[in-house]
Amino acid sequence: MILVVGATGCLGGLVAKRLLRGGWPVRILVSEHSPSEELAQQGLATPAGALIAAGAQPVYGDLKDPASLAEACRGAETVITTANAAARGGADTVETVERQGNRALIDAARAAGVKHFVFVSAQFAAPGSPFPFLAAKAAAEACLRDSGMAYTIIAPNAFMDVWLTQVVMLPALQGLPVTVVGSGRRKHAFVAMRDVGAFILAALEHPAARNRRLVVGGPEAVSFRDAASTFGRILERDIPVRSVPPGQPLPGLPQAMWPLAASFDYFDSPVEMRGTARAFGVHLTPMEAFLRRQLAELMTAMQRP
Ligand SMILES: NC(=O)c1ccc[n+]([C@@H]2O[C@H](COP(=O)([O-])OP(=O)(O)OC[C@H]3O[C@@H](n4cnc5c(N)ncnc54)[C@H](OP(=O)(O)O)[C@@H]3O)[C@@H](O)[C@H]2O)c1
Repeated sequence: MILVVGATGCLGGLVAKRLLRGGWPVRILVSEHSPSEELAQQGLATPAGALIAAGAQPVYGDLKDPASLAEACRGAETVITTANAAARGGADTVETVERQGNRALIDAARAAGVKHFVFVSAQFAAPGSPFPFLAAKAAAEACLRDSGMAYTIIAPNAFMDVWLTQVVMLPALQGLPVTVVGSGRRKHAFVAMRDVGAFILAALEHPAARNRRLVVGGPEAVSFRDAASTFGRILERDIPVRSVPPGQPLPGLPQAMWPLAASFDYFDSPVEMRGTARAFGVHLTPMEAFLRRQLAELMTAMQRP
């Protein structure tokens, strides 16, 4: 049995669906007030109902409720967690979910005899990060390493699906300029979420993924300006790019993402992926292919009644 925590989110839903399609027995942790059914209509979540209809076994619980995690882990051989509270509010915070919730899940998994724990972190998770979210991810990584369970830490660069869609595609499709912080010329190995999902699935069976932290980036490093000019070529029109200083509002982007967006202009983050992609049999999606596929998906979604 594989427990997927975060299955009602974007990446977790993609992973849970692929596991179910592959015939794996899947359990999902579903929280009582999950907004997934509504968010799914905007493509921002995976409805629990659809996963249950596809064969997932639901366990109702919450990362803030250790008793529910013990129940969810009972009999599971593997735990995959993609959960995070970045899009939530109220009682769900970096402290209660990222730090204490992840620790409680790791403790529950160890107590239940889980054999392999797959944790989705972030490439730049670090104990001293100025971003509390990234510092908490690093704390969870350390907790998992110390747990004694076999683990895989998947540490992705920024998701194309989030950053290129929200910063470049959606404004451009509305006829608005693309807004970048600073130069917008720093290059990052943005990665397609489906490729991150492919690494998670590969990690389940690949011995080389055991007790490893796998940094997962896209096949090339690109800037927001590169993406805007490629998307302009696809749309066959110029997409204006305007630059704002750090701290200014970024239209269309949740406020919680503004500091991260600003941080992108202070460094480049290319990732040499050829060896890892070959070793795990993952075909990484180039930026242009992602933009074309995402455009087709957005157009189909817009035509739906
Ligand atoms: N976006 C990026 O560029 C990026 C880059 C690197 C790494 N990552 C990491 O990738 C992972 C997947 O991201 P995503 O976009 O798929 O996330 P997402 O769509 O926001 O999904 C979040 C999931 O976490 C669950 N969750 C939140 N608080 C919870 C709680 N208290 N108890 C139980 N479940 C809770 C949500 O459940 P509900 O249905 O109840 O809301 C949802 O299933 C995250 O760990 C993220 O940090 C993202």
